Amino acid sequence: MRKKIIAGNWKMYKTVSEAVDLVKKIIPLVKDSEAEVVVCPNYVCLSEVAKLLPGTNVALGAQDLYWEKEGAFTGKVSGPMLKSVGADFVIIGHSEQRSYFHETNETVNKKVKAALEHGLRPIVCVGEVLAERESGKTEQVVRNHVEGAFAGISEQDLRKCVIAYEPVWAIGTGKTASPEQAQEVHAFIRGLLSRMYNKTVAQEIQIQYGGSMKPENAKDLLSQPDIDGGLIGGAALKADSFAGIVNFKG
Ligand code: PGA
Repeated sequence: MRKKIIAGNWKMYKTVSEAVDLVKKIIPLVKDSEAEVVVCPNYVCLSEVAKLLPGTNVALGAQDLYWEKEGAFTGKVSGPMLKSVGADFVIIGHSEQRSYFHETNETVNKKVKAALEHGLRPIVCVGEVLAERESGKTEQVVRNHVEGAFAGISEQDLRKCVIAYEPVWAIGTGKTASPEQAQEVHAFIRGLLSRMYNKTVAQEIQIQYGGSMKPENAKDLLSQPDIDGGLIGGAALKADSFAGIVNFKG
């Protein structure tokens, strides 16, 4: 049985004191959750948020990493650095990285390898833009993202990864994919993994849905057989709405 995993992607929101305040509110609200819970603040908030997490069921994630261990790469943060502040997860290939910051399948793949090498669990984002969905290219785009991200990744390493299916047209727009639309793509991804690897590992991988998930629609989405959690943006910025998703009852 796959455990649900709900991750809050705080994007470029929250100063250190605001992030500390938010996580202090989240912790008691999610303490009885059956799902894995992850918060992903911006880099500068990671260490202060990390201090509050020992002894709780909330794990820490970052929003990106650079694939080199260290070096003259101004502005970048590496896997060992994220590990050193207590991060266990890292979001890779988010559509905002792909569309604004030149993220490609190749850079996603390098980042996935670096994350795994340094003991971080990648949350790998895949998903189509509206024009691609409307022209019937959703599966083609998602296949390209999945094959690109996991090129050269062993089955053993794939087991440590989480995939987030995020239709780009649903991110931050208030438009959510219908549970059926999301389920269809999740099942497609699982089928693809079963062809790329095997059925057993494909059944084990957690596949999150992302794109305007909120307490009101979480139950319907999370009740779908292949939807194993959520990557939450806007609704993760308030403790009660994030907890409302985490504590959904199926
Ligand atoms: P959203 O963002 O929940 O605000 O749509 C999701 C994401 O970008 O991961």
